[in-house]
Amino acid sequence: MPSARHLLIYDTDPGVDDAMALYYALAHPEIELVGVTTSFGNVSVVQAATNALYLLAIAGRGHIPVTQGVAAPLGKPGEEPPAHIHGADGLGNLGPREAHALRLDPRSSAQFIVDMAREKPGEITLVAVGPLGNLALALEIEPQLPKLLRAVVIMGGTVIEPGNVSPVAEANIWNDPHAADRVFCAGFTLTMVGLDVTHQVILPVTMFKQLAGHHRHIATDTLHHAVAFYANFYSDLYPHVAAIHGCFGHDVLAFVALTDPQLFQTESGALRVAVDGLAQGQTMLKRKSIPYPQSGWEVAPATVCMQVQADACRQKIETVLMRDWLSL
Ligand code: BDR
Ligand code: CA
Repeated sequence: MPSARHLLIYDTDPGVDDAMALYYALAHPEIELVGVTTSFGNVSVVQAATNALYLLAIAGRGHIPVTQGVAAPLGKPGEEPPAHIHGADGLGNLGPREAHALRLDPRSSAQFIVDMAREKPGEITLVAVGPLGNLALALEIEPQLPKLLRAVVIMGGTVIEPGNVSPVAEANIWNDPHAADRVFCAGFTLTMVGLDVTHQVILPVTMFKQLAGHHRHIATDTLHHAVAFYANFYSDLYPHVAAIHGCFGHDVLAFVALTDPQLFQTESGALRVAVDGLAQGQTMLKRKSIPYPQSGWEVAPATVCMQVQADACRQKIETVLMRDWLSL
């Protein structure tokens, strides 16, 4: 077997598109998942950790450690999770689940990230697809983290596309704007995969139905169930999504940006977050080399995905998930 190109920690709040992204990572031949860290967001952190363990257990990947992370935003009160989008259980209201024997790694998610980064300096990429509190706390434990991690890819934020929780804010950044701003100012080699690109890629439910028919496995049955629930939310909201009865794949695009960067057009610049006021959660990208008079733009530039080849991206997701990854 060829050695993995990407040693990866997945920081997540599963969540339907989080589950999709997890299975993309497990199915991809160039990704080796070394741990899953969890956060509040789409569900409580307890439910997020429960779902991560379950998704790994039914996919036969019980050897991958899972940790429980932050339960609330660092700098503002938490909110009720969006049960109407992901289901009260985060996986489209699955009903009774298969029993399994997996248990959490006892470390906090922040400590796990630091431990792994120290163990393999410069080798690990962190893909974060929920609020960024775990990474912000990891920075407190280890200020050298930006040098110890190879790269950080986040699903979150938006530059031009309107927000999905306010006219300017995307959900993951809205859920913990203080954490996101700390992460953006820290000097990571960071790529942002936000609504500018995730709203361009609609994944039809039929794709997940075919996937389930192809694999005939509890993992892809579970994913199909969850996506069907999630697609109802998006189809009710957007007529062009309803036309194909689909959903946005948000989190899985963070992985596609990692494995297939040629499918994305990017811009580079300082990235900051509005932490309060009506614009709370807005991600602001400095797109021009104008010497703006305010202080705060002198942070290391991030790479931000602005355009995506949507058809090729969709095709890639389907091809990877159709691989023979569940019988390994
Ligand atoms: C992001 O918010 C969550 O609902 C999704 O899992 C994704 O990470 C999209 O705004
Ligand atoms: Ca997510």
